[in-house]
Amino acid sequence: MSQSFDPRFDQAHDRRGSNCSKWDGMERIFGVPSQDGLAMWVADMDFRAPDCVQRALADYTARGIYGYADTETALAEATAWWMQTRHGWALDPSHVMSTNGMVNAVALALDAFSAPGDGVVIFTPVYHAFRRVIEASGRHVVDCPLAEQEDRHVMDLAAYDALITENTKIIILCSPHNPGGQVWTLDELRALADFAKRHDLILISDEIHHDLVYPGHTHTPMAVAAPEIAERLVMMSATTKTFNIAGAHIGQVTIADPALRARFMASKKATATGPGSFGLIMAEAAYSPEGAEWLDGLMAYLDGNRKLFDQGIAAIPGLRSMPLEATYLAWVDLSGTGMSQSEITHRVRQNAKIAASPGADFGPRSEHWLRFNLGMPRAQITEAVSRLQNAFGDLQ
Ligand SMILES: Cc1ncc(COP(=O)(O)O)c(C=O)c1O
Repeated sequence: MSQSFDPRFDQAHDRRGSNCSKWDGMERIFGVPSQDGLAMWVADMDFRAPDCVQRALADYTARGIYGYADTETALAEATAWWMQTRHGWALDPSHVMSTNGMVNAVALALDAFSAPGDGVVIFTPVYHAFRRVIEASGRHVVDCPLAEQEDRHVMDLAAYDALITENTKIIILCSPHNPGGQVWTLDELRALADFAKRHDLILISDEIHHDLVYPGHTHTPMAVAAPEIAERLVMMSATTKTFNIAGAHIGQVTIADPALRARFMASKKATATGPGSFGLIMAEAAYSPEGAEWLDGLMAYLDGNRKLFDQGIAAIPGLRSMPLEATYLAWVDLSGTGMSQSEITHRVRQNAKIAASPGADFGPRSEHWLRFNLGMPRAQITEAVSRLQNAFGDLQ
């Protein structure tokens, strides 16, 4: 497994000392020494972005002038092209708005479509910033726990019916799901759309992981799955996870319904937030045939990483990795070890010297889970597996 698979992704990059959250924050946050630790937490990858992005940036920096951007139109058109060619979604570029990233987009949507005190549905375990933004904006979380069926997360909409009150205004869906990597099926998406309609809720579909889908699975944008709920649907997508340009802080919000779009635009205007010129340039360059070719190579590489990681985890008694359908974020259950959360933490951080995201960050009932970021060269995945096998070696 240590032979070269794809030089674009095999090459190791030392990101330490570059104000990089994932590697430079690891010692401060997890006590894992940056000298010989492995950073497998924050969701960005240790790969260089595609050449088309690098060239666009080089052209821009060669001018050496960093003034205001003119319009977001070119990116909206590139987004429409990408969605049509990659996801079979025909959207009108005039419905696309760019934001200062996806979490900013969620915050703007909460502001636009709810009021302090209102309830917002999330399906836990889920990406932690949803809860953070909901609570910071004075709304409250309506926690709808995902069930597990045949090694994947599933929704129990019949049970959630009872959790919705007249104060509940919004659902935030993570599609594909983080953590766990579920690609929601057409039936699942349509059932959720019905649920939103039945309870008169706005449905935000955060599809930031939409391109990171493994062979055998197909992501369907909610706008394609349930066009009949357009009057309540807020689509969110981004180039940033796909092309590893999260620092560009840019995302797209697409709203087909004019009244709904006007409400979102009003929030955007009132908060005076939006993308910077770097984000616009990078995202537009990424949504191109060259970006698509790079992405295909990336997914083949990540597929190898996830297989290697899952095999290694399966060999440790008491550990189990949820089979990923999408994302490079492996969701690992360590409850079978019978160990306490602190014992697990100690072994992973101190013995294996790995910084992984704690399960509890993603919601209740996940204390014995960890999320491992597999977006790194294959050789480091091999190293991580070997460290974990040693750290839990007494269970063999
Ligand atoms: C579902 C989801 N939404 C949003 C984000 C972050 O988006 P941004 O960096 O554009 O705010 C992440 C990052 O991991 C994510 O997993």
